[in-house]
Amino acid sequence: MFRVTVPATSGNIGIGFDTAGLAVDIFNYVDFEARPSGLVIETPGAAFAVPRDGRNLIYRAAKKAAQTIGKPLPGLYMKQYGNIPHTRGLGSSAACIVAGIMIAETLLGHPLSQSERLEIATVMEGHPDNAAPAIYGGVCISVQDGRQIITSPIAVKNDLMVAVLVPDFTLSTRRAREVLPKAVSVPDAVHNIGRMGLFVSALYSGDYSLLRVALDDRLHQPYRKGLIQNFDRVVQAALSAGAYGACLSGAGPTILAFAPDDSAFLHRLEERLQGIGGGWKPLLVPFNQRGAFVQAL
Ligand code: HSE
Repeated sequence: MFRVTVPATSGNIGIGFDTAGLAVDIFNYVDFEARPSGLVIETPGAAFAVPRDGRNLIYRAAKKAAQTIGKPLPGLYMKQYGNIPHTRGLGSSAACIVAGIMIAETLLGHPLSQSERLEIATVMEGHPDNAAPAIYGGVCISVQDGRQIITSPIAVKNDLMVAVLVPDFTLSTRRAREVLPKAVSVPDAVHNIGRMGLFVSALYSGDYSLLRVALDDRLHQPYRKGLIQNFDRVVQAALSAGAYGACLSGAGPTILAFAPDDSAFLHRLEERLQGIGGGWKPLLVPFNQRGAFVQAL
């Protein structure tokens, strides 16, 4: 029996629509082994109906990776479980896809490179911003160059933490993409390009005071925040509690804040969220620097 462990990820990081993402220490797990035939899927503790047949996303990703490797997938037993909230903007689908790819590699005895994994995952997801940090860990900014996805992970200093503010409602990525415009203006593109540079500079220099301005997006957040109950109030609560900057996590509805490694910050944040409708629950978590991995049990 093997186990693949995959971290939760937050796509976009405000200004990096479809390109930037980060991994945090919240995990999903899949225990798996080859069987002579068939497909058996267990989902203990699942808070929603996970398909247990060929429609299962982990299984579909494993099949896709097996096709790329050029060998048939054997029968499979897998048990999927973990702590990444589903449909909240924390990369639960990217986690399934990356897990499936690594399951196929393991069972077929054919390790893929990280960039090969990322290419398969990006084709399945449509964008690399969650898949890249799920594979590499850290903060990843990914670009497409022809068919190749190029990413250069940034190892974040350990004085920076991530607060994820998870509401009690869900938002599908499909719905959150439907509200986006088909084209953006040059001033809005300029606004984001400069801030992306500032964001990277803040991470390398440790000058986190830059993050408040750097995370201010004009390409997707203005269109999506109407779908998210109390978005502006929650962002303000995070900033007034002492967060360096805050933005939507992926397509939402979770909100992400960069924060100091300080339990007093979390306490202030919990106080300020009281009375704001939406059931917002904050978690203060470290960045995940390792990315997904497989171990023998
Ligand atoms: N970049 C994606 C989006 C993340 O914003 O739609 C969600 O999958």
